[in-house]
Amino acid sequence: MATTLLLGQTLSFDDNPFTAGLGAVRHHSTGAILLRDGMIVEVGDASDLRARHVDCTVVDHGDALLIAGFVDSHVHYPQTGIIASWGKRLIDWLETYTFPEEMRFGDADHAQLIAGMYFDFSLANGITSAASFCTIHPESVDAYFTAAQARGMRMIGGKVMMDRNAPEGLRDTAQTGYDQSKALLEKWHGVDRLGYAITPRFAPTSTPAQLQAAGALWAESPTCAMQTHLSEQREEIQWMKELYPDHPDYLSVYEQYGLTGAGAIMGHSIYLTEREITALAATGSGVAHCPTSNTFIGSGLCDVRGLMQRGIPIGLATDVGGGSSFSMLRTMAAAYEVGQLRGDSLHAAELLWLATQGAADTLRIGDKVGNLVAGREADITVLDLSSTPVIAQRAARADDIWGALFPTIMLGDDRAVRQVYVAGRPMMPAKGHQMLPDA
Ligand code: GUN
Ligand code: ZN
Repeated sequence: MATTLLLGQTLSFDDNPFTAGLGAVRHHSTGAILLRDGMIVEVGDASDLRARHVDCTVVDHGDALLIAGFVDSHVHYPQTGIIASWGKRLIDWLETYTFPEEMRFGDADHAQLIAGMYFDFSLANGITSAASFCTIHPESVDAYFTAAQARGMRMIGGKVMMDRNAPEGLRDTAQTGYDQSKALLEKWHGVDRLGYAITPRFAPTSTPAQLQAAGALWAESPTCAMQTHLSEQREEIQWMKELYPDHPDYLSVYEQYGLTGAGAIMGHSIYLTEREITALAATGSGVAHCPTSNTFIGSGLCDVRGLMQRGIPIGLATDVGGGSSFSMLRTMAAAYEVGQLRGDSLHAAELLWLATQGAADTLRIGDKVGNLVAGREADITVLDLSSTPVIAQRAARADDIWGALFPTIMLGDDRAVRQVYVAGRPMMPAKGHQMLPDA
């Protein structure tokens, strides 16, 4: 099979920089990645790899930075069209903007249109994997996985389960939610690079019977992911307490119905008690940190480092459309800003970990994607570290790779993403054109 050698700067991780420090990061200023059959075969120094692999196609990205493709650990693709909607907090934001838009996804044509846009925007921002909520409509799930499959992407998604506190037309039942989710996971889970996530939206929009059904389905299909929301806003927690008065805290609701464990992805997780943090760690449940959403909807400041120190898998997430950007660079900048507001300066290496391997681990796909190492799938994002005049003049003063990368994290957007490879295939034609699923 054809072998390709990508040239550029490379960054990869030997270990988690939160726990192992900067010594865990490997940087080659003149690096190379050898790809074959959609996989990474070798990562190293360009002169060495070129000397040993003379008979391959060489793609020279100059001084651009090659990193693992970004992994978005929590997103709502059906909310693409309502991103940046003004002036609400979580519950009235859901009622005013989100539910009316999600209502439209029973229409397969609309779902297909938005899914296509969602994947184009994500790829343009260097995102190669994600875990997305769909809507309650099976059509929304089919549209999502069909579009992901056409692009050859490793993507996770699932039908939202919601049987109360949502408008007519946007509710299933405990039984239909179970039946439809089961049929969809049997159709899509494990097909090509696709994975299913059992998706009860959050405790307030499910009856205990529906959460029980979701837990039963997960027990029957334990290799699936399970995604939901946890402790995002104070008003939401108050509402949850009124609906589940017998529970000591939010997480205990999910625990009771078998919705914690490895592969559980808890969106937000801001206002956790000590008991909840201990329970997340003990069960191996993961957290998706959604900093642009948490500032945009006014939710609060997640203690990323604190959760990481407790051994909880945690990844970065756009949470579009509560999140205000498709850019993982912008999302990393927001994570930095949230950290600053907590008195904690996240390092560029830590931000990059959260956006790649940390998120992949949270989704239980960290053995397949998330890092530039031999044996991983060749999902690679190519960053131009001088993509605008402001960034270029700042990066020109850099003393090392971190000084060169941090301006792109803080000031960069899709203009910094020069190319994105999905299983070794370049997805980006000349700037300004549509993505090519079959390029
Ligand atoms: N909680 C329940 N549903 C949602 C949603 O769609 N977005 C966000 N940010 N929080 C939620
Ligand atoms: Zn969300």
